[in-house]
Amino acid sequence: MGHMTGKTALVTGGSTGIGLAAATRLVEEGAHVYLTGRRTRELEAAAEALGERAIAIRNDVSDLDDLDRLFARIADDGRRLDVLVANAGGGESGQELETLTPESFDRTFGINVRGTVFTVQKALPLMDDGGSIVLTGSTSARRGVPGFGVYSATKAALRQFARVWAAELAPRGLRVNVIVPGPTDTPGLRGLAGNPEQVAPMLGGMARSTALGRLGSPTEIAEALLFLASDRSSFMTGSELFVDGGEVQVYP
Ligand SMILES: NC(=O)c1ccc[n+]([C@@H]2O[C@H](COP(=O)([O-])OP(=O)(O)OC[C@H]3O[C@@H](n4cnc5c(N)ncnc54)[C@H](OP(=O)(O)O)[C@@H]3O)[C@@H](O)[C@H]2O)c1
Repeated sequence: MGHMTGKTALVTGGSTGIGLAAATRLVEEGAHVYLTGRRTRELEAAAEALGERAIAIRNDVSDLDDLDRLFARIADDGRRLDVLVANAGGGESGQELETLTPESFDRTFGINVRGTVFTVQKALPLMDDGGSIVLTGSTSARRGVPGFGVYSATKAALRQFARVWAAELAPRGLRVNVIVPGPTDTPGLRGLAGNPEQVAPMLGGMARSTALGRLGSPTEIAEALLFLASDRSSFMTGSELFVDGGEVQVYP
């Protein structure tokens, strides 16, 4: 019996990458897991691989009506949430200050910040005392990487929301923490390269930014995320946990 047996979790952006790895570990530890994403094929493949304790719901976190439908569905299933992993998000290339467009800015803030804020807000009625909320941050919020201004600002915003929400939700017995991945080999990261020839040099540069000299795997992030999601981190709130191969802590 795993240490999440009897718990129910929602992982937004659970169809690929870090979210899928988190959903996988939660299911392995006995939880029922709802996972979301916008692309149906990726979502269904993930749910099928995870087995009967995984439930896929197509959802776009930047669409507030869609978020209402997601939580109505979970309530209709008669379930409450012990764990919320607000992970859906990502960046895009071409966001250097001189080339940034308002559309690109709004898209990134709309998913990473607005989407996360209202995911958490709308999940609250389904969460009880002892619940754990984990936001996916990024080491980029601590660094000045050219081209990542908008993305890193969204993650810095989440880091600050976590502090405030930890204070606001403590009286309800809810904890809020941030998992902070360094460069992690996911479809989302690879998608940042402008073309296939740029993938290897881009990943190589990112690997060299860590003290361990390599990218993380989604499972390595998920192990730490699982800790924040579980009662094993019961005295942590408003905190951030770096899983970054030393990118920020060793080479600040
Ligand atoms: N990989 C890294 O190096 C790294 C480092 C630090 C932080 N992060 C963060 O980790 C999180 C996961 O990223 P990843 O690297 O695992 O990328 P990924 O493989 O692209 O996974 C992103 C997930 O989010 C979903 N998603 C994206 N936009 C969504 C939306 N509007 N509504 C619902 N779901 C949405 C995607 O599915 P659909 O596209 O089908 O919607 C997918 O399931 C992100 O918040 C990212 O910023 C990643």
